[in-house]
Amino acid sequence: MKKVLVINGVNLNMLGTREPELYGELSYAALKKFIKRSAAELGVKVCVKQSNCEGRLVDFIQKAYGRYDGVVINAGAYTHTSIAILDALKAVNIPTVEVHLTDVDAREEFRRTSYVGLFAQKRIAGRGFEGYKEALAYLAHRES
Ligand code: DQA
Repeated sequence: MKKVLVINGVNLNMLGTREPELYGELSYAALKKFIKRSAAELGVKVCVKQSNCEGRLVDFIQKAYGRYDGVVINAGAYTHTSIAILDALKAVNIPTVEVHLTDVDAREEFRRTSYVGLFAQKRIAGRGFEGYKEALAYLAHRES
């Protein structure tokens, strides 16, 4: 059974409250539940983590080394700024999918830059919660 670490970054704990017209009315707890249910359906072992701190996100990635077969990451706004997260992903070299709830390419110009995307093998954006399930399915079916 593949083991996947799902990492959610800054402000994702505010789901349900934050800009519901963009991110929806469901809470972060509901997202966590959805990810766990999806993983069970796909036969994937999952661990879901969230932090608002860039360094904690780097710690999550570093600790995944040798422990996980895949990473799903929605780094929130750090996606567009964090060379540290990119370097951590490169350091552990685990197959990675970048996920965004919204279609980042259809929003402000600054959201089109993605440091995470310079490493991730796949990007899923604009699919809401479903994007996490698609990311898990991609990693579950990937060779090696
Ligand atoms: C996001 C998109 C980012 O641009 C934004 O900063 C977020 C959430 C998304 O899931 O759509 O915090 O990653």
